[in-house]
Amino acid sequence: MSVKIQTLSGYFHEYQKSVIEPETFWDRIAETFHWKKRWNKTVEWNFEEPSIKWFLDGKLNITENMLDRYLFTAGDRTAIIWEPNEPDEPSRHISYRELYHMVCQFSHVLKDLGVGKGDRVIIYMPMVPEAAIAMMACARIGAVHSVVFAGFSSQALADRINDCSAKLVLTSDGNFRGAKKIGVKEVVDEALKQCVSVEKVVVYRRTGQDIKMVKDRDLWWHDAIKGKPTEIEAEEMDSEDMLYILYTSGSTGKPKGVVHTIGGYMVYTHFSFINVFQYNKGDIYWCSADIGWVTGHSYIVYGPLLAGATTVMFEGIPTYPHAGRFWEVIDKYKVNQFYTAPTAIRALEAFGQDPLLPFDLRSLKVLGTVGEPINEEAWHWYHDHVGKNKCPIVDTWWQTETGGILISPIASITPTKPSYATMPLPGIQPIIVDNEGNVLRGNSVEGNLCMKYPWPGMFRTTYGDHKRMHDTYFSQFPGLYFTGDGVKRDEDGYYRILGRVDDVINVSGHRMGTAEVENAINEHPRVVESAVVGYPHEIKGQGIYAFVIADMTDRTVANLTNEIKITVNQIIGPIAKPDKVQIVPGLPKTRSGKIMRRILRKIASGDYDNFGDTSTLLDPGVVEKIIETAKEG
Ligand code: PRX
Repeated sequence: MSVKIQTLSGYFHEYQKSVIEPETFWDRIAETFHWKKRWNKTVEWNFEEPSIKWFLDGKLNITENMLDRYLFTAGDRTAIIWEPNEPDEPSRHISYRELYHMVCQFSHVLKDLGVGKGDRVIIYMPMVPEAAIAMMACARIGAVHSVVFAGFSSQALADRINDCSAKLVLTSDGNFRGAKKIGVKEVVDEALKQCVSVEKVVVYRRTGQDIKMVKDRDLWWHDAIKGKPTEIEAEEMDSEDMLYILYTSGSTGKPKGVVHTIGGYMVYTHFSFINVFQYNKGDIYWCSADIGWVTGHSYIVYGPLLAGATTVMFEGIPTYPHAGRFWEVIDKYKVNQFYTAPTAIRALEAFGQDPLLPFDLRSLKVLGTVGEPINEEAWHWYHDHVGKNKCPIVDTWWQTETGGILISPIASITPTKPSYATMPLPGIQPIIVDNEGNVLRGNSVEGNLCMKYPWPGMFRTTYGDHKRMHDTYFSQFPGLYFTGDGVKRDEDGYYRILGRVDDVINVSGHRMGTAEVENAINEHPRVVESAVVGYPHEIKGQGIYAFVIADMTDRTVANLTNEIKITVNQIIGPIAKPDKVQIVPGLPKTRSGKIMRRILRKIASGDYDNFGDTSTLLDPGVVEKIIETAKEG
């Protein structure tokens, strides 16, 4: 048995042990997994280069710990329950034994297509079990998967394929999302016009819509698996071999490929899953994220399946065909732990309590939230109306880079406080520094959230550009991992995440770099310059506000703003589409040419007064002009 915290004093006890003797602490947890060869050294690290290694020289295959491990003891247990977009379509229940065979079978497909250890495979698929099967099949043969959210545009997909020189793309004909049927394969076809590394495309039939199959390149999933054996030896992998790459946005440049390696990620996702959610054998667990994001990786696929859990995978959206869809699914499968994002909670809260009335939700024991700060009102609504005042809320703070949850209550054990992520998990050593890097000790402090010691699940590099990892996360406060988040530690020592302090905005729990959106806007031929900021948005948490200088000849404001939105949609995808575009005569720049974003943030949030010191502005008059047009709406 791994370390499972049972009491608050048990938490403090384990926490102390994890700080005083981290190696002994993590050894004990790692020993509960199946290794082909034990590690020689638990951890080797420095945050200067940075270089982080866990369970050195250990040999294993993560899928043996997710599948083979449960084959004989729990082969009939349901591993994945799949709930389709349409409530009338039959759901799927896949047992651990069936999952094992499906993964083995698809591993053969990968091998026969020439994919080997270390090769990169792109997964651009809807929420169907085959997407999870594809991830595990890659891990089984030692290939590196990179899942790309199926809402990204062909350009965004092409950028990711090219960055990691993927050999293979796994996709589907289309995708059902609410009342819409969306073409997926056509996006891949468009992307591949720019990608030379891709040799084959495997297409899973989901919607049955007409698509073009390219001769000698494309093959159907169902044809590919025909006759393939349902057993395959798991490749022996090193602890520090790559498991996957996941692209995420930062404050500069194109999205970067966050790299996770096998051993540490396995240990950490399992440990955090069973503890935070207090998962017990037989529980039905549901995380409503998409597998295109890290939450889907760690807490739909890896964490739960490593724990032998039953994990629900939902294809649809919370409001289709009605605003009680989430609650219907919870009752249908008697879900015990439910994990979603504040943006979904706020969207459902807007429908009032009526959609909840037909459902009893009595099975629920734990409610989780992730992705962005949860406001108190949404917290209370979730707690009172969904959890009926009896379910603890685990407000889990973490990031793509951290691999797993770092700061969170432990369900039913840590006393919660609305909008607080509360305390670090064992093994996690947060530290708060001011902008000059001075450590802020004690309670009642506010500053930049950093980590001073590694944990097994953290990322190891940014794919193809290790320097970028150093510069982005380890250079601002030397010797520390800087998360990019602001945080407050209150008088009780509880952590409250205040949001990003860099140029990253969080839209419906999705990370967006303002520079990335600006680059997309600037692709419009009429655009001269743009500046993008976040502003408070009732449902999305933050909305995207773009200030744009543009050549207006032959254009109305309405035409141009619309075209700009379409451009961003095409270049990145609908999630990056600005909520507001304001055409402006100029941007507030300092004499050295730097845009004063704090002024734009204030204007975007509707606050037109008290801009503080504006003496360094090249043309203070421009602020007045921007405010004037902003007021006109
Ligand atoms: O700002 C924090 C916010 O989401 C960022 C990480 O985004 P991403 O890598 O896409 O991963 C999201 C899912 C793990 C963080 O830097 N964030 C995440 N969880 C919380 C949060 N902000 C406040 N409270 C949270 N619970």
